[in-house]
Amino acid sequence: MTVLPRGAQPALLQIDAIVGRLRGRAALDEVCRFLFESFPHYRWVGVYRLDGATLVLEAWHGPQATEHTRIPLERGICGQAAREDRTVIVDDVRSAPEYLACFLETRAEIVVPVHHGGRVVGEIDIDGNAVRAYDASDRAFLERVAEKLGPATAAAAEEPPRVD
Ligand code: SME
Repeated sequence: MTVLPRGAQPALLQIDAIVGRLRGRAALDEVCRFLFESFPHYRWVGVYRLDGATLVLEAWHGPQATEHTRIPLERGICGQAAREDRTVIVDDVRSAPEYLACFLETRAEIVVPVHHGGRVVGEIDIDGNAVRAYDASDRAFLERVAEKLGPATAAAAEEPPRVD
């Protein structure tokens, strides 16, 4: 069994508390902020929701906004993770031809599908500034986080579109 990263167990409890207290996009916003502030190697944290064949950015926290607020399913690391319904870790974005650049500093990325009702409803997308920033412990942790975000991600579909 993969060991979770330092601080993961209390973080999972915090995330339970957030999704117990908040609904929809408000919960996703708070989880993004919490992950960003708790793990220094998570340099940008976002949640995309799958809307038909498009990934729509519902929540994010980080130093800058991304221009990729809507990503067609056939594009990017984000599209790949959702299409193939699997966690994708990119050790060095400079050697990933399908990578859609958001931030100059980004070197590594991890994208983890979120499920609800037995299907992919979205994904967690995290960028890092170091090559090989993410490993099996991040995958194990973020897959546990993703299990908790299904209802909030699905519920965000009922809210007015995000404006930013
Ligand atoms: N890099 C992603 C696009 C989203 S930004 O990282 C926020 C991709 O290749 O799909």
